[in-house]
Amino acid sequence: MASLLLLVPSLFSLFLLVPASVGNFYNDFDLAWGDGRANVLNNGDLLTLSLDRASGSGFQSKNEYLFGKIDMQLKLVPGNSAGTVAAYYLSSRGATWDEIDFEFLGNVSGDPYIVHTNVFSQGKGNRLQQFYLWFNPTTDFHTYSILWNPRSIIFSVDGTPIREFKNMGSSGIPFPNSQPMRIYSSLWNADDWATRGGLVKTDWNLAPFTASYRNFNADACIWSNGTSSCNSPATSSASSSGSSSSYWLSLQLDSTGQHRMKWVQKNYMIYNYCTDTERFPQGLPPECNLS
Ligand SMILES: *[C@@H]1O[C@H](CO)[C@@H](O)[C@H](O)[C@H]1NC(C)=O
Ligand SMILES: *[C@@H]1O[C@H](CO)[C@@H](O)[C@H](O)[C@H]1NC(C)=O
Repeated sequence: MASLLLLVPSLFSLFLLVPASVGNFYNDFDLAWGDGRANVLNNGDLLTLSLDRASGSGFQSKNEYLFGKIDMQLKLVPGNSAGTVAAYYLSSRGATWDEIDFEFLGNVSGDPYIVHTNVFSQGKGNRLQQFYLWFNPTTDFHTYSILWNPRSIIFSVDGTPIREFKNMGSSGIPFPNSQPMRIYSSLWNADDWATRGGLVKTDWNLAPFTASYRNFNADACIWSNGTSSCNSPATSSASSSGSSSSYWLSLQLDSTGQHRMKWVQKNYMIYNYCTDTERFPQGLPPECNLS
């Protein structure tokens, strides 16, 4: 593993590598809802979700994962997408669930999308960070990645880290590290809040709205029947199946990654719960003072 990390000096460049094995939407996902509005095309290489006045649509992974480096390419609803929201996230089940979210808030044609990120641990979220993107996410596919290992959760866009949520469990802050999660995505109407706080409504004359997905890749520990495909997740750096190394299980942001993330946060961050003293008059959440 050490030699791999030397060859590939930063998380930034790791995410730019072509995935070793690209998933197939037929094998890896179920069309969960939407009554024909979710579709797998091109022999499993492409998935589309659509939304019209009657319904949105969604899909979910067949597997549950407990840690992984999960990449997906998305092309968001083009043109006037105001009122629409595409969510792409990992979630466990139950009342004390864990969740790692990307959420894409549509906008009037020419105005920028907003990306929401959030982390729930043991049913508690309230950790919103919002960003603009540095490109138009509707003209091409772009890669949205979640690295989730026992040390941190890192959100990246086209290989650039935008957010890190570290495991500060030793300070009593719960970290998602025991509940297996599935991958979910959905496209739905949220024009009561999504665009300019709900001022701009969905224009149903433009329906159906469509978002596209491709090049899913999960270097991940699959959870099945109470066991992980990575035999001992916390320590293993060797391949569990012989096909791919699990270098990502101990990966953290290096100085290049930190630098890139600071650049994004300085130039593209719109909102950070960790600076919202109005929302948390009793004091900011504890992780805000530690990271
Ligand atoms: C939509 O564009 C306007 C600027 O034209 C901006 O204020 C707003 O934050 C953008 N995004 C959303 C989701 O409202
Ligand atoms: C998990 O258990 C079920 C029955 O309890 C069995 O049918 C299935 O093959 C098992 N899966 C694996 C991957 O071992």
